[in-house]
Amino acid sequence: MIDIALPKGRLGEQVYQILEQASYPCPSIREENRKLVFENPRAGVRYFWVKPSDVAIYVERAAADIGIAGKDILLEYQPQVYELLDLGVGRCRMCVAGRKGARESRDQTLRVATKFPKIAKSHYSALSRDIDIIKLHGSIELAPLLGLSDVIVDIVETGKTLLENDLEVKETIVPISARLIANKVSYKFKYEEITRLCRRVDEQKKEAAQ
Ligand code: PRP
Repeated sequence: MIDIALPKGRLGEQVYQILEQASYPCPSIREENRKLVFENPRAGVRYFWVKPSDVAIYVERAAADIGIAGKDILLEYQPQVYELLDLGVGRCRMCVAGRKGARESRDQTLRVATKFPKIAKSHYSALSRDIDIIKLHGSIELAPLLGLSDVIVDIVETGKTLLENDLEVKETIVPISARLIANKVSYKFKYEEITRLCRRVDEQKKEAAQ
């Protein structure tokens, strides 16, 4: 049995569909209920719905053998897990954004609002830029609008949130997509099962891309 942590929400549903087509179905997962654990012993899988930002913790601590986490989470928290596959879904980018037309002054410490302090710090330290991190948990785009910060470091997917709030991308830091990750011990002890799953998912991904 492989225990799989799926990120709750649209991305998780997309990923489950890939897994289903790759011969890891679990029909009960589609039932409308509030259950969080679903298993199909015949296919050798058990799925959990996990808050997306928690998937890496479940996998790192072996509560799940494998899971699907965004590259943003992997870069920010650097969990001790193996990154096995880029699933090519959940694509977006980590960006610096700010008010349209606003120019930042190099003389002052830049105030950066973000949910991703580690990514922001490493980006600006590579530029030798002094920053003041303002850690927020959501609606990051509000910060520059209300003068709480000069810029934000955040995820941009369609760009709609920025556009509708008179903000613009100033720089792209890194492209993001969903990654298949594995617990290091599980990878060793369930090597056959996990590599078979990876191979099937990869084939499925390539078929879908054609
Ligand atoms: C994310 C991100 C942006 C938005 C970008 O927020 O933080 O706010 O999506 O998407 P867009 O480019 O398609 O507009 P999320 O929905 O996770 O909510 P949050 O405000 O709680 O971070």
